[in-house]
Amino acid sequence: MPNPDHPVVERTDVNPFAVVTGASRGIGAAYARLLASRGYDLLLVSRDETRLTHLARQLETNHGIQAHVSIADLARSDAAHQLFVESRQYRQTPDMLINNAGFGLYGEFVSHPLPRIQEMLHVHVRTVVESIRLFLPGMIERGSGTIINVASIAGLLPIPHFAEYAATKAFLVSFSEALAEETRDTGVVVQACCPGQTETDFHGTAGYRPPGRLPMQTADQVAHTSLAALPNKSPVVTIGWQGKLTALAIKWLPRTFLIKTVGRITKLATRSGSTA
Ligand SMILES: NC(=O)c1ccc[n+]([C@@H]2O[C@H](COP(=O)([O-])OP(=O)(O)OC[C@H]3O[C@@H](n4cnc5c(N)ncnc54)[C@H](OP(=O)(O)O)[C@@H]3O)[C@@H](O)[C@H]2O)c1
Repeated sequence: MPNPDHPVVERTDVNPFAVVTGASRGIGAAYARLLASRGYDLLLVSRDETRLTHLARQLETNHGIQAHVSIADLARSDAAHQLFVESRQYRQTPDMLINNAGFGLYGEFVSHPLPRIQEMLHVHVRTVVESIRLFLPGMIERGSGTIINVASIAGLLPIPHFAEYAATKAFLVSFSEALAEETRDTGVVVQACCPGQTETDFHGTAGYRPPGRLPMQTADQVAHTSLAALPNKSPVVTIGWQGKLTALAIKWLPRTFLIKTVGRITKLATRSGSTA
């Protein structure tokens, strides 16, 4: 275990360094692949040692970077501190922090097991807030850094039968927008990345089967669009046709109508495939 009292000395002749949570698969793995191809050294975080180690070795071989793994359950109360300490083993302050780990829970709120809800609150909210509180001062002091919080278009609107997921993602959107403003003149960029439905394991885990056969974007498209948007410094980046449609619907349709409609669609999709 590294010692936080003896931080590593920052070197200028090394690759940029990114911490990516939820990197074992899906969108997090896509961010990791893209950053590795751009010469970033990485700290890949999730609970799945086998997948993380496999990805890390693959990225090192393909791109000549260094990829480290951190086996962490981000629902644990000391997760942010663990991440901070492990990251300092490699760099004083990362160039990029991507808070991507997360999962969905479809169905009626009262049917969800309390421990699973608590897990979501920890992974989506507590660990993200605490991690940013730990990493951001170093970025501000250095005058550069990027924080990407992977939220969702579900964070733009209350969603019945997906209530706590949408609310935690709304928290991330709000928090990111506020931090982006606070850090505007510091050299730090904060982005809430809001993908629409994306082809990953997410839907199976969440107990959701899309009612129709609408096209989904790939995880690579999400990571690419999110990173490409960084120079614009937009605090909220919606991704895919669903992102555009949601933004338009929120602008033009009455909120009560929208909430009822998305609730009906979500209920239908949950019933048809729920395993949650
Ligand atoms: N797919 C979509 O349609 C979609 C749309 C909008 C937003 N998002 C968001 O995108 C992010 C990534 O999701 P995805 O689609 O890539 O899903 P995914 O393929 O299921 O990947 C989820 C990742 O989160 C990690 N994770 C979950 N709980 C964790 C915990 N307690 N501790 C550590 N890691 C944990 C998983 O790691 P391990 O299981 O290996 O620990 C995995 O790496 C999530 O925040 C999700 O809400 C997804």
